This record gives sequence, C-alpha cells and structure tokens, in this order.
Amino acid sequence: ASGPVEVVVDTAKPGSKIDRNIFGQFAEHLGTGIYGGVWVGKDSTIPNVRGIRKDVVAALRAIRVPNVRWPGGCFADEYHWRHGIGPAKDRRVTINSNWGGSTEPNTFGTHEFMDFVDQIGSEAYISVNVGSGTVAEAAEWVEYMTADPATTAGKERAANGRKAPYKIKYLGLGNESWGCGGSMTPDYYVDLMKPFARFVRNYNPAQTGDQAMQRIAVGPNDADTGYTEGVMKAWKGHDWAWNIEGLSLHHYTTGGWPPSYPSVNFDEGAYARLVKETLAMDDLIAKHGAIMDRYDPEKKVPLVIDEWGLWLAPTPGTNPGFLQQQNSMRDAIAASLNLNIFARHADRVRMTNIAQMVNVLQAMILTDTDKMVLTPTYHIFRMYLPFQDATFVPVRFNAGTFKQGDIELPRVDAVAVRDTAGKLWLAVTNLDPARPVRISGRFPGMTVRAARGEVLTAPRVNSVNSFDAPEVVVPKPFAGKAERDGVTLELPSKSVAVVQIES
Ligand code: AHR
Repeated sequence: ASGPVEVVVDTAKPGSKIDRNIFGQFAEHLGTGIYGGVWVGKDSTIPNVRGIRKDVVAALRAIRVPNVRWPGGCFADEYHWRHGIGPAKDRRVTINSNWGGSTEPNTFGTHEFMDFVDQIGSEAYISVNVGSGTVAEAAEWVEYMTADPATTAGKERAANGRKAPYKIKYLGLGNESWGCGGSMTPDYYVDLMKPFARFVRNYNPAQTGDQAMQRIAVGPNDADTGYTEGVMKAWKGHDWAWNIEGLSLHHYTTGGWPPSYPSVNFDEGAYARLVKETLAMDDLIAKHGAIMDRYDPEKKVPLVIDEWGLWLAPTPGTNPGFLQQQNSMRDAIAASLNLNIFARHADRVRMTNIAQMVNVLQAMILTDTDKMVLTPTYHIFRMYLPFQDATFVPVRFNAGTFKQGDIELPRVDAVAVRDTAGKLWLAVTNLDPARPVRISGRFPGMTVRAARGEVLTAPRVNSVNSFDAPEVVVPKPFAGKAERDGVTLELPSKSVAVVQIES
C-alpha cells in the first residue's frame, strides 16, 4: 500500500516510564575508544581538561548521557585496577590482549574515568573483573572508590587526588562470563557471582535509597536462555546475604560471524537485510522477558541490554581488533528502531548501553587526532532527548510493508511519549529507502495546534558524515500540518522525525 499511514495516539492510557538509562553508553579500552577518543593527556595540543578532550565532552553533554559502562567488555575481565591509579609515570604498561594486542598505558584509570563521567554529567557503571580477578580485588576497588577519607582506602584515594567518596551507581558483576569472561556454565557463574554480590560493598554514605548501587549480573548471549534461567532462578531463591538489581543481555546486529555488513558503499538490499535483523531485538526481549516474568512477575529485576548496536565489518586498512566502522543514515534508522523497541518494553528494559561511545562499533562520535565528527547515530540520541524519563503513550498503526528484493519490511515505525514537562512527542521512522510516506497522526480528544520538531534524512541510506563533510546527515527543522484532532506529516524516504504535538 502507498496511501497514508494512520497513527492513532492514545493519550488517555499512559504506559511505563522510559528510564533515561535506556540511553546509556559503553566505553571500553578498545582501539581508540578511550585513548585518542576521550583521553589525549594533559600535555596534548588537542584542547583538554585534565587530559580529557573538550570537544568530545561538549558533544556528550549535549546528549545527556545517563550512564557510562567502563572499562569493558572483555577488557574488564582482565583489568586490574591498581595498574590505573597513582602517578602516571609509575603506572604499569600492559598489553590489551583482547583488542589488537595494543599497549595499554593505564594512564586512563579510575580517577580519569570518574573525572570524565563528572565532566559529561553522567553516572558511573563499573564492570568488575570476575573472570581473572578475585572477590578481594573487586571489593578493594569499590572500597577504594567509596570509602570514608578517614579509612586507609579513603586516605589512599585522597593521596591520589580525590578526598570525597566517588559515586558508583551501577556495578557489573563480570562480562560475558559465557564467552570472553571465562566460558562458564550458568551454574558455575551463579556460584562465582554470589560472593561478588555479597562482598563488593559500596561505602559511600550518600548512596542510600534510590541512590543505592545496583548490581548487574551477566545474563544471556543473544537468544541463548541458559543464563536467563540460571541467574533468575538463583535470584528467586536468594537469601538475605546477596542480591542483584539487574540482568544483562548482549545482542548485536552482525550479519553472521564474523560481522559481514560493510559500513560504507552498501546497497539497498544490504540495507534491508540489516534492518530486518535489527528488528529481531523485539522477539529477543520478549523471549528473555517471558522467562524473567516466571521468576519475577513484579519486574523487580530490569533487563539491562548493556551491549547493543551494529557490529559491522571493520573499515578496510584499519586494525581489525580496533572494531572501527563508519556510521551511516542506515545506522541512524537502526538506532531509532532499537530505541523504539526498548521504549515498548520499558517495563522490563530499564537500562541499555549502545556499543560504543567513541570510535568503536556504532559510535556517537568519531575522532582523528584533533578532528571530531558527530555520527548519524549521535543525532538520533539527541533527537530522542525528550524520551529520557518520559512516559510511554500507546500508539496504534497499521504500518503496511514494502519489499526490497526478497526482504519484506514494515514501512514505518512510531512511538509516542509524554515528557517530564508534560509535553507530547511523536517519533516516526520511515524505513523505506526510496519512497516518502504520509503519516496521518490522530490524537482523539485533543485539539492539535502544531507539530514541530526535527527530521533526520540523507541523500542515500549509505550517506555518512566524514571529517571533510561532517554535515551530510544532520537533523533539520520539520513541521507537520495540524488539523483539529490530527496532524499530517510528510516523511521523506529513509528518515526519522521527532515532533512535539502542541495542543
Ligand atoms: O563491544 C565489543 C565486545 O563485544 C565487548 O568487549 C564484549 O563484551 C562483546 O563481545
């Protein structure tokens, strides 16, 4: 069908809160994700504050990153925090065995990460080393970060430049323990995880009530339900001595393994295959969510999708271990579809972390020495700002489908929210790479005066922003035509629009 798509927004039946943590980020010691991308060192000619790039900080502040997961990833299960504190000249230089065998100078450690999180106005999500570390090492790290300055651990922290305890809002108990984190069975992981959950204590006196540190256990790999069953069963039977406040899920769009979708110069057939695969996130959440519901019908334990995004073939000529890829209009559409799926599952999915923040995988930002460019995915995160902590508003629509070669896809996707100030927003994605679509928005019971916001589109689905041409894919002002209880939006092909519905 090529007629208008009617989107009916039911403002009378608000749904779940869309936790701002759904817009979280992941920053691993991997390639130039930290070194070069965030950290340039205090003596760099690249403008910085205490070694951290000013341009990157300003860009990240503008998208109000709610939390940053660090130091990995696979890196976390081989990270020893003591290598990353104290005078920079004395820090141990190690090898990043997971990612390209590069030299790890450890100049970006605990204090530098906490400074970074503070500069961008975010919360820390620390992943402790369960795979090759010990309970004692993890417990001492969190003690070092959070203990009273009168204690020995707190004095050491103060001697290294920080008197007041740090705040650690989220604590990851290992990473992919079914894979790079130690190839553990679910039962083995559960037994190992419990002492971490018990003994890794947060001593920051300010972290009580809703500020208390939330512990996130390793959960499923894609569709494998072993860890979902194992960890949730253990959680259901947990005693007073331990608890967890989140279950992690990792899922990437890859096109098989090794990742095969190119990040540039792909055609519309490849676009359609990738988008189809991306939409599978919905079933995946439903599948794990159904298991979680059996053990936790009250949805106390959130599903934390702390690694997601497009994992594409590495940019030719780059170190394949650095996971560098370009980011196109296609990536922006995939980001919007994933965010919409998370919003629809907001009762269970209360935190996610796109992989990764800078220069790695589906990044927000690409840098090259002193140059920086914002990716199409970055612009989606900025356009979706009103969704942070907003209330989900149900929408009904019959999207219809279109065919790209042998792949059938929905023509549009749509979600609506009421933001924290009470304003109504509608986000609509036109998945069709070639045809515009007319959206007939209906808001029964409302008199619509205007629909204004932004649209992100590009000449082609494979259009990218480069250092030489940074504004090929950037949001533009966009308005609909208001008429009584409705609004008409003329969406260009391959576009994402986010508009405020004014009444
Ligand atoms: O994001 C890259 C890697 O993907 C992470 O280190 C790991 O957890 C996952 O396999």
